[in-house]
Amino acid sequence: MLDKLKELEDEARGKIEEANSLDELKEVKVLYLGKKGRLTALLRSLGSAPPEDRPVIGKKANALRQELEQAIERKEKSMHDEQKKGKWEQERIDVTLPGRPASPGQKHPLTMINDEIKEIFLGLGFQVAHGPDIESEYYNFEALNIPADHPARDMQDSFYITPQFLLRTHTSPVQIRAMEKRAPKLPVRVIAPGKVYRRDDDATHSPMFHQVEGLAVDRDITFADLKGTLLLFAREMFGADQKIRLRPSFFPFTEPSAEVDISCIMCGGEGCRVCSETGWLEILGAGMVHPRVLQIAGYNPREVTGFAFGMGVERIAMLKYGIGDLRLFFSNDLRFLKQFS
Ligand code: PHE
Repeated sequence: MLDKLKELEDEARGKIEEANSLDELKEVKVLYLGKKGRLTALLRSLGSAPPEDRPVIGKKANALRQELEQAIERKEKSMHDEQKKGKWEQERIDVTLPGRPASPGQKHPLTMINDEIKEIFLGLGFQVAHGPDIESEYYNFEALNIPADHPARDMQDSFYITPQFLLRTHTSPVQIRAMEKRAPKLPVRVIAPGKVYRRDDDATHSPMFHQVEGLAVDRDITFADLKGTLLLFAREMFGADQKIRLRPSFFPFTEPSAEVDISCIMCGGEGCRVCSETGWLEILGAGMVHPRVLQIAGYNPREVTGFAFGMGVERIAMLKYGIGDLRLFFSNDLRFLKQFS
């Protein structure tokens, strides 16, 4: 029986040693020390041993029981400690790792184009002027020679706030505001970038979009000055070999008036899908300031003349970057916006 005890001891110690988890250790404990465990069974069968051997075997078996219990406990404790340490290792912050870079952001493509337009005209001696988005009917129409009931008001389906106030349909009211502010001093040379609003909504029209207005008033300003200014603008914006074309048009606040085209930036003027085979792309409206507008704004049309133009920023950005749908500018899709960094 002593041999059996020795065998059992070796076996149990080996299993404790091998146990890899707290669960396995528990199994070993049950296997040897549990109610139906092997050591327990051996102790129970002590009665079958010769009477003179019983005290020795009993003592040894009980001692072994204690030793095994202690060995299991020690192992349990060390496993607990290991586990804790493992967690600690996992959660430890490695201060030598590089930080997460903050993504710095960038300008919106419309802001980039707006800035480019501004730069070009600032270089020509223009100053930046601003007017309100909610504009009076007087500045938006009346002072620009568009009287009530004039059919030209229909060209720009508008958002009215009250019968007298509306969201401006163009940046042209800033022409009047800038002249009123400066009159009778000369020259006036301003550009007016800003938001404008019309009741349109499709792939090439948004109810809110951006324009940049230009105005120059002085003695002896001619149509040639307008043309030269616009040609320089087109070349700065779209490339040195740009051509422009002026077509007769109508605006109540300019006379004569023109629609201005640039040679198609896709085909260079040969004719393609983008320019509908014409070789030209319309980019802005312009003209000589109407004498009545000069007078309303405080200048004597017999002494001074001026030119004005207005361009759509989205239109220019779409042409320059080859963008087919204007709504992309306003949908805040980073996959689109990140392409302009
Ligand atoms: N305000 C006109 C428009 O929005 C453009 C324009 C501005 C035309 C200045 C002539 C002179 O269509």
